[in-house]
Amino acid sequence: MPRRILVLGSGGRLGAALVREWQAAGDQVIGLNRQQLDIGNLPRIRETLEPLQFDVVVNCAALTNVDYCETHEEEAFRINGDAVRVIAEACNAKGARCVHISTDYVFDGQKTEAYREEDEALPISVYGASKLRGETELHAVLASHLAVRVSWVFGPDRPSFVDQILKRALEHDIAQAIADKTAVPTYTLDAAKLLRPLLEPNAAGGVVHLCNAGACTWQEYGQFALDRAAEAGVPLRTQTVLPQRMVELTAFIAKRPVYTAMATSKLTQLTGTSPRSWQDAVADYVETEWAPRHR
Ligand SMILES: NC(=O)c1ccc[n+]([C@@H]2O[C@H](COP(=O)([O-])OP(=O)(O)OC[C@H]3O[C@@H](n4cnc5c(N)ncnc54)[C@H](OP(=O)(O)O)[C@@H]3O)[C@@H](O)[C@H]2O)c1
Repeated sequence: MPRRILVLGSGGRLGAALVREWQAAGDQVIGLNRQQLDIGNLPRIRETLEPLQFDVVVNCAALTNVDYCETHEEEAFRINGDAVRVIAEACNAKGARCVHISTDYVFDGQKTEAYREEDEALPISVYGASKLRGETELHAVLASHLAVRVSWVFGPDRPSFVDQILKRALEHDIAQAIADKTAVPTYTLDAAKLLRPLLEPNAAGGVVHLCNAGACTWQEYGQFALDRAAEAGVPLRTQTVLPQRMVELTAFIAKRPVYTAMATSKLTQLTGTSPRSWQDAVADYVETEWAPRHR
């Protein structure tokens, strides 16, 4: 029997991709977007989930604007923290598994090598702290529920950094990106494949890191994307991404961790699959999704 999967936040970049990819893989998937379920309304979570049939909930709904969270702390903790407890409790009431999507921003960014799941989470922003609260609430309800930390999510369902830098190079003579912040892109279509085995009722709980392999700065990420777009015949106005320093971005309100590459060896151990490199994933996205729309 196909698994019955409920995806919350199905209007978002990751949620929309998971619904589509898992439906294509033969799973029974229901997606609820923000209009269908506002998870900031805690009683409404219980009322909405109670009549539904599902074996696993994948929670992609979150307040993801890091600077907005910094100035809306109560709302951030309610949506990214308290709501996760209520979702996990609703799962327990059904004997269902809860897979909650979390973030690399739970780390302070002071390490110089890839973060592992057992490294101490020390968030430096309200967003990071509220997402860490979500993980804590999840595991307080049931230790065998799973928190999946992703980073720099990109894909066809909603524009992200890679789309913004490509658009910039298409329309302007100068493109710039931050060169003193390092993380790992996560392609939503790869995430759908990597996450699928972790939905099984007997799959491991706890915390797992899920992203493509390797690490890069925003500048390296943007430069690589521009190179692939130029090769694919997109008429860019500039083919160079100039370096910027994080301090130059005065519009940033929240502090960002400078280094949050994540090790994925636990993911490989749990699923038997290794993520492909971020370069292969970005090249695939640019060549098959982005370039055909911009040639
Ligand atoms: N994007 C990244 O680079 C990144 C990095 C690390 C971790 N993550 C995590 O990955 C997960 C998915 O993020 P994403 O990249 O797909 O971002 P996204 O596109 O912003 O998706 C989040 C979704 O949650 C929805 N949402 C916000 N508040 C809600 C509420 N009160 N009730 C119900 N839905 C609500 C948003 O609705 P609207 O469409 O109305 O805004 C959006 O559809 C999140 O847990 C995020 O923390 C993302």
